[in-house]
Amino acid sequence: MQTDVVRLGRLTGKRSGEMMHFLSSMQADRHIADADILVDIAHVLMLDKQKIIDRDVTEQLLPALLSMQDEGIPEEAFDDRFEDIHAGIESILIESAGVEIGGRLHIGRSRNDEVATCIRIKLREELLKQMEALLKVRKVLIALAGQHKDSVMPGFTHLQHAQPTTLAHHLLSYEQAFGRDFDRLRDAYARVNLSPLGAAAFASTGYPVNRDYTAALLGFDGLVTNTMDAVATRDFALETLADLSILMVNISRLCEELILWSTSFVKFVSLDDAFCSTSSIMPQKKNPDTAEIMRAKSGSVFGAFSGALVTVKGLPMSYNRDLQELTPHVWLGMHDAKVSLRLLIDLLSSAQFDKERMREEAGKGFSTATELADSLARAYNIPFRTAHNIVGRAVSKGDLSLATLEEAAKSLDSGVSLVKKGLTQGRIDKVLDPDYSISVRKAPGAPAPVAVKGAIHDRKKQLSADSALVDQKLVKLAKAKAELLSKARRLVA
Ligand code: ARG
Repeated sequence: MQTDVVRLGRLTGKRSGEMMHFLSSMQADRHIADADILVDIAHVLMLDKQKIIDRDVTEQLLPALLSMQDEGIPEEAFDDRFEDIHAGIESILIESAGVEIGGRLHIGRSRNDEVATCIRIKLREELLKQMEALLKVRKVLIALAGQHKDSVMPGFTHLQHAQPTTLAHHLLSYEQAFGRDFDRLRDAYARVNLSPLGAAAFASTGYPVNRDYTAALLGFDGLVTNTMDAVATRDFALETLADLSILMVNISRLCEELILWSTSFVKFVSLDDAFCSTSSIMPQKKNPDTAEIMRAKSGSVFGAFSGALVTVKGLPMSYNRDLQELTPHVWLGMHDAKVSLRLLIDLLSSAQFDKERMREEAGKGFSTATELADSLARAYNIPFRTAHNIVGRAVSKGDLSLATLEEAAKSLDSGVSLVKKGLTQGRIDKVLDPDYSISVRKAPGAPAPVAVKGAIHDRKKQLSADSALVDQKLVKLAKAKAELLSKARRLVA
């Protein structure tokens, strides 16, 4: 049974199982264990290159690490009696290769720079997965928009019928929001993918370490240069959780709409049965549980973000053990956001929208009154505020007939006759038609089918640029990993 090699020298005192479990980060370290092996290999290659260790030490350290890479880390490395996976792996290495060899792995580094490096390696992979899932959600939204350019529906402000729009326009609003979520994660990636390695405990080391070399071996885009900041900061994780929280707000709002739209008094959408559950007592029920759980998961992600924030608030420089408690929040937030995004893809693409029902509601609640006011102002050179006043008075009388509008116009202090100006019932009917109201709204980003067509074209272009960016990052990481391992293998062979 290996003892924790870190504690051998300085400390005595017996620790209970409960105490060791309390102090150990082992459970969360499962997320970073694979990254830790890569960090170990890169570190050994650097020690060798800088002639900090002899070649025969390298030749014995690398095979042990490569076998953990190829066959998996032995389960005993994850035992709670080690403070963390770093101590676990080192202890096992010393046990198997002897302290003469295994005891040289930790030259010129600390678990402080080691863990920060591991977290960043795992996090960048997770970020790319989130970005890929976001690309897929956006693709589904754009495809649905393409099918619903003419699907007229009511648009709301204050959840009151406001103006008619199309389902395409509505869905593209979410696609645009998810596009910004993508941008935020892309920006976070740039700050995550920097190497803290070589910072050691915080003041770096007197050994001639080559930080740029390990950074390049591990696929980082640069260094977290100041070594104190390198081990102390978790702002890269906070930033990611903030971005995920905003993303979850967008998911939650969309889910809220799907829930609302699937009620029997709205009936704009029918969600696939697979995403719904029924009641144990009410046999008729079809409940939108998946959307509800996603709406709730936003709360879990905000919780992860605030838990992480509070953990670092008030910590002095540089490393403090408190930081260990922050890391699980990152994996939790990442996981909930990722699963929500992945399920959202199928939830959306399997939803059936009821075009007739949406159209039925589109013209209700005087939703085209804005267009009528606009038309009066435009055709008869009336100030918009006056036209707004006339139409508002007519609405309060309960109809928008020629007679009511004429009466409203004449009742103003500056009374005018719309009939004398040429207003007819035919013209009123034309502008009150929801299709007409939509068709004249053709500025960039507006709901007219012609504008939506342009928007779909632009968003598809943006989507393929974003997708190329993710591919390029994935290729860079895969290449770095392959080169790191083949370098190590060549040295051993
Ligand atoms: N398990 C620790 C963490 O997650 C690793 C660093 C330990 N450093 C130390 N000085 N005890 O933060």
